[in-house]
Amino acid sequence: MRAVVVKELAHHTKIPITKDAPEPQTSENQLLVDVYSTGLNFFDILQAQGKHQSRPQLPFVLGTEFAGRISRNSPIPKGCKFNRGDRVFGAGQGAFADKVAVYPEQLLPLPDILTYDEGAGLYVTWPTSYEGLVGRANMKPGEWVLVTAAAGGVGIVAVQLAKLLGGKVIAAAGSNEKMEVAKRFGGADFVVDYTKPGWQKEVSKITGGKGVDVVYDPVGLIQDTFKCIAWKGRAVVVGFAGGDIEKVPTNLILLKNISVVGLHWGAYRIHEPGQMDTVWHDILELLKSGYPMPCRH
Ligand SMILES: NC(=O)c1ccc[n+]([C@@H]2O[C@H](COP(=O)([O-])OP(=O)(O)OC[C@H]3O[C@@H](n4cnc5c(N)ncnc54)[C@H](OP(=O)(O)O)[C@@H]3O)[C@@H](O)[C@H]2O)c1
Repeated sequence: MRAVVVKELAHHTKIPITKDAPEPQTSENQLLVDVYSTGLNFFDILQAQGKHQSRPQLPFVLGTEFAGRISRNSPIPKGCKFNRGDRVFGAGQGAFADKVAVYPEQLLPLPDILTYDEGAGLYVTWPTSYEGLVGRANMKPGEWVLVTAAAGGVGIVAVQLAKLLGGKVIAAAGSNEKMEVAKRFGGADFVVDYTKPGWQKEVSKITGGKGVDVVYDPVGLIQDTFKCIAWKGRAVVVGFAGGDIEKVPTNLILLKNISVVGLHWGAYRIHEPGQMDTVWHDILELLKSGYPMPCRH
């Protein structure tokens, strides 16, 4: 089968596709899935270079997120709700391949309304951004929401969801092209270029001087956003794509009564699996209700 096999740690663009890789062996309780589409996430790029905490032994197959069908020759573990041929999406190590072995708890049924390409981009970004906005920031309709890296994986979903949840969304990105993506595919109300000095003044002006109620930040710009956050604003720490982990002065948090909250979606599996079910239920209902995915426009 075809697979992106990492034999030596390298940037993912330097790793060729192996055409005769062996099919994955399923361990007890695993299913085999035919992969039709995959999503590339930030951590795949880090993992290929050995820069992520998850470091499989070399050689390993790269990739995590996918959509496809349960293989015709898949074992079906006892009590498993999936059958051979079912359309599914999910995550499992080795997804950049024709087949991947996964545990059923890391799979969800792919609603008929979604294509495989759409399904391959759901499993990581959608629940991360949904829980970030709804569970952690307690976002309400009518509130101002600022999303940084708004054209990136979790960022564009945060823009889409914040709009869908009734927010007024300001998308911050690093180029005209990315601002256009946030507007066109995310439906952002306003866009700002956050590489320009003083961009926070533009955000404050857009909000009529009030500032934003919610900040969703996958970059590591929390302290910068304090310049344009509202009184009692809530800032969600999602990631550090910019490369630096910030040390935020707590006096700034005090001055505006700000709440800074963290989000680690993957850790819900250990600490709060029930909340994962709730979030997925809400997202799938949203998608089944015929919500027009902006990426289809
Ligand atoms: N907390 C969680 O549970 C969770 C879940 C998923 C992902 N994450 C984290 O969220 C972050 C974003 O993930 P993603 O999958 O959305 O990534 P992505 O699609 O690669 O987007 C990252 C964005 O960050 C911006 N950026 C700024 N400085 C950058 C730099 N030095 N290198 C690369 N990008 C840079 C870029 O936008 P501009 O060019 O517009 O600046 C880029 O579009 C990562 O840190 C990831 O680990 C966290």
